[in-house]
Amino acid sequence: MDKVKIALLGLGTVGCGVLKGLKQHRGKIEKTLGKELELCSILVRSPYKKRNVEVPSELLTTSIEEVFSDPGLSVVIEAMGGLEPALSYVKLALHQGCHVITANKALIAKYGQELHELAAAKGVQLLYEASVGGAIPIISTVRHFLKVNEVYKLYGILNGTTNYILTKMWEREESYQKILLEAQSLGYAEADPTADVEGYDALHKLTILTNLCFGITPDLERIARTGIADISVDELKLAYHFGYRIKLLASVEKKNGNIHLKVAPSLLPLSHPLASVDDVVNAVCIQTDLAGELTFFGRGAGELPTASAVLEDLFYLLRNQNQNSTPDASIEKVELDYAQSASE
Ligand code: NAP
Ligand code: HSE
Repeated sequence: MDKVKIALLGLGTVGCGVLKGLKQHRGKIEKTLGKELELCSILVRSPYKKRNVEVPSELLTTSIEEVFSDPGLSVVIEAMGGLEPALSYVKLALHQGCHVITANKALIAKYGQELHELAAAKGVQLLYEASVGGAIPIISTVRHFLKVNEVYKLYGILNGTTNYILTKMWEREESYQKILLEAQSLGYAEADPTADVEGYDALHKLTILTNLCFGITPDLERIARTGIADISVDELKLAYHFGYRIKLLASVEKKNGNIHLKVAPSLLPLSHPLASVDDVVNAVCIQTDLAGELTFFGRGAGELPTASAVLEDLFYLLRNQNQNSTPDASIEKVELDYAQSASE
């Protein structure tokens, strides 16, 4: 069996989720692809920190040189966050001919174009399904399955932390600060939660989707952005009284040849499908010419939903390296029990 050597950069919420997901599904991935996965090293800042997952201590390192010293390394999963040193490490990985999977939306929103070009020049893949919408396979959908349709508009709830805060403030009438702490302890928030509550995280995700749908890289500094920090329980209650919910919406629309982007708290009538999207769930609506309106829902943050996106990227990457493998060959065959189906 071929061996695939993998390095993981970061062992926080996402990194721990990736280890847990790998533990749960390694056998299936290896059997389906006929490849053995070997996790070679895990880069962290504090090797003695208590982790939320069992990890062989010999895998932990604080040295990026050690991570890249393995000549057989072929996949780097970046789950550190922030711009530096993540950017330098991702570039190093690509330069060294490694495929990169990242969950880092800030990085892709700002440097996606440059990293794509570098990956293409090196003949490797740069995948980032986990960067938008958590578990929702929205990146692969717009990247691979909406190439013919013309997209007119995309909008949605792209930040789990703020949706959780707005939901719980409305349900429990508790303060914004108290629920933010809860969202942090659940692993939903960014290392600096200002990115969530001020709308920067949603803006990064909107930028990535805009690039994939409209082929442009918007200037982050010039996009209208308002967060949720000033919204009170009274405002949420009042909105509901008049038949609305307040949600942090990110939207991009093509109008008269121009692209308009915005992140802002918005009033949604209770009858709107996104009005009842609560807690950490994200939603994306895409309006197109052929398909009409498509809507996607799913858990937008947290350990396992995010790991799901990272591991699906890993599987996609390794399957496509398999010259002889077809999508069908990767589907586990099950027998349909017709008798049971008929009686249901
Ligand atoms: P996190 O819990 O803060 O974990 C970050 C990890 O990276 C930690 O293990 C930390 O090491 C390590 N790290 C950070 N800077 C480092 C450095 N300079 N050198 C070595 N190690 C470093 O963050 P997270 O929530 O897992 O998020 C990681 C990335 O995924 C971010 O880009 C985030 O936006 C993205 N993301 C997160 C979620 C989510 O639900 N949390 C969902 C989708 C995408 P120590 O543990 O030793 O401090
Ligand atoms: N902080 C982000 C959120 C993590 O709450 O949506 C998922 O990208």
